[in-house]
Amino acid sequence: MADKFKNKLYIVSVILFVICAICMLYFGYKTFYMKADSSDVKEYTYHFALIAEETDNEYWDMIHKGAEQTAEAHDIYLDYIAPQKADNDEALTLIDRMISAKVDGIITQGIEGERFVEIVHKGIERGIPIITIDTDVTSSERKAYVGSDNHKAGQQLGQAVVDSSDKDQYIGVVTGRKDSVSQQERIEGLKEVIQSHSNIEIVAIEESNITQIGAAQATYTLLKEHPNITTLIGTSALDGIGIVEGIEEIAPNEDIPVIAFDTLPDTLQLMQDGAIDMTVEQQPEEMGREAIKLMLGLQENDLLDNERYIDTKLIRKQDVQKDDDSS
Ligand code: BGC
Repeated sequence: MADKFKNKLYIVSVILFVICAICMLYFGYKTFYMKADSSDVKEYTYHFALIAEETDNEYWDMIHKGAEQTAEAHDIYLDYIAPQKADNDEALTLIDRMISAKVDGIITQGIEGERFVEIVHKGIERGIPIITIDTDVTSSERKAYVGSDNHKAGQQLGQAVVDSSDKDQYIGVVTGRKDSVSQQERIEGLKEVIQSHSNIEIVAIEESNITQIGAAQATYTLLKEHPNITTLIGTSALDGIGIVEGIEEIAPNEDIPVIAFDTLPDTLQLMQDGAIDMTVEQQPEEMGREAIKLMLGLQENDLLDNERYIDTKLIRKQDVQKDDDSS
């Protein structure tokens, strides 16, 4: 009798054990199994790096925007990196790091000096194509340049000064950085046009370090040290905006014409308000798009056409005011 009871107990225990094991497997599966989501694992065709002059700069944000759109359309993974504040040594270190990371291509602002030439040589030797964007260094082995013809853009600035008045003009220039090749080329172009006009003279050039506050301070210094200045010119994207701020501080009642560079929203607003008279327009988004396309082409073949100049043009405040009236 006791044996029969033991047997029954044994059978019931086995059945209970089997039921528990089945439940454990079933609910465990339901709880912990995650269906692989194929959209999580994106396959990229290439990995490119875009190296800007500094982070949080609206002009470079536009280049990034154009580049990112084109990269996405071609399933390219794009790293966007830059020194926090414009700094050549840091930018060179970033390029070097991207070479070590063996990316498929590097798009970078050209940097003045022998170290840039050496780093580009190193990248090319290791089979990594390098393109300059915005600022070129023709002495390097970069595969191509995408950006404005900065010398020509400087000539457009000069022509703007010549056309604006027949009177004597004493010019104060606020430039991004004196050790930037593109800034030097713009100033050369400007000087080339005005040199044949005896009524026009550049009295001083000050750096803004490509910041608005730097441009306001540079304006302050220029107007303090050269009160005879009649016209102010900015050669990088935030200079015009900073110049207006500087004039408001030191000479709010004087009518000093301002010629700026680029068409950031604040610059266009100041043209609308009449505080900036003219600006040379660049096309940063288009530069970004073109650079990615060129880099993509370079993955297959070398390039024949190494300079991809993107048009610049002079815009007057009347054009901006007219555009706004008609919209
Ligand atoms: C220049 C860039 C520079 C930027 C600064 C632009 O006009 O083309 O080289 O980084 O201004 O805001």
